[in-house]
Amino acid sequence: MAFLGGFFGIEFPPAEAPGIGSYWGMPPDPALTFVNARSALSALLASVRPPTLWLPAYICRSVPQAAAAAETPVRYFPVDVSLQPDIAFLDAATRAGDMVLAVDYFGRAPDAPFLDFVAQRQDLRFVEDGCHAVDTGAPPWGRWCLRSPRKLVGVPDGGFIAPGDDIAEPHRSRIDPRLDAQRAACLRFEDEEEQANPRWHAANQERETAENVSRRRMSRLARELLARLPVEAIARQRRDNFQALAESMSGLAFLPDQRPAYVPLGFPVRLPPATRSRVRADLIEQGIFPAVHWDDLPSPASFAVAHGLAGELLTLPCDQRYGTADMERVADVLRQSVRRP
Ligand SMILES: Cc1ncc(COP(=O)(O)O)c(C=O)c1O
Repeated sequence: MAFLGGFFGIEFPPAEAPGIGSYWGMPPDPALTFVNARSALSALLASVRPPTLWLPAYICRSVPQAAAAAETPVRYFPVDVSLQPDIAFLDAATRAGDMVLAVDYFGRAPDAPFLDFVAQRQDLRFVEDGCHAVDTGAPPWGRWCLRSPRKLVGVPDGGFIAPGDDIAEPHRSRIDPRLDAQRAACLRFEDEEEQANPRWHAANQERETAENVSRRRMSRLARELLARLPVEAIARQRRDNFQALAESMSGLAFLPDQRPAYVPLGFPVRLPPATRSRVRADLIEQGIFPAVHWDDLPSPASFAVAHGLAGELLTLPCDQRYGTADMERVADVLRQSVRRP
């Protein structure tokens, strides 16, 4: 029964132009959207049933969680110090029908040798993990692309695979009107004067810890926002900010680009492990929140290159919320911290 009258929920103005959601190929059918990306990947695995899912040794723990929930066996492949997949290894180890996931790390697509490998091995099923990517500036290279919008734009939750049609009916998502996944983002949004940092930070930590694989649907709030957020302005600001950081700290940059053709997730720097810990603490002390992608890899320790990088990388914020003056502040704090004995 459709109700008439009573109090209002939340009303959005009509979308005037296609938003970042359609740019990312967000499925129009809400049942093909999930509360997070790992749930979307798990639903795809449960539908396609590949014999093995190959993951890069440098990956976050949530991705093998998706495979475990779908009972898909996981194996890992090495990456080099630039995070490029080891193609010779993959070529020898993979078998027809296997699924191979590779990541557009920090927003950047893998280099040409991997893309040539993708073109050659038509017998494999490739998933482009675009969870770090607003736009790689390059053609999509996978049969599917995985998205986790909350890592890139101000939406409280959500994840999907584009296209989503391969997700079979029993694995599609269900409405779940609990608001726990949205709580941290809403607390921060309403804290206009940023007085309640401990509250929303704690809420976010709690929510990230509770994050799991499920059939919960992406919130309607997130879908409506993704239908309206403009991709061009987001992309331009991120590139400008990245460039500002690249100009002021070339010696520490992990990525070689000055003004990238891709849209960056953040600005990763590479520091010796002890320095990274100190710099991270100093930045936080100054109210600058860097991210670590990732310090707790699920791959075996024998993947030494990946585990080495996991101790060294630190991602500085350079997203669309900020401008040049903010980037100068980030660079100043970082430089001072690195120089400190
Ligand atoms: C590269 C990458 N892929 C997938 C995921 C999983 O995303 P979600 O947290 O939305 O499940 C993450 C999360 O950290 C990620 O960084």
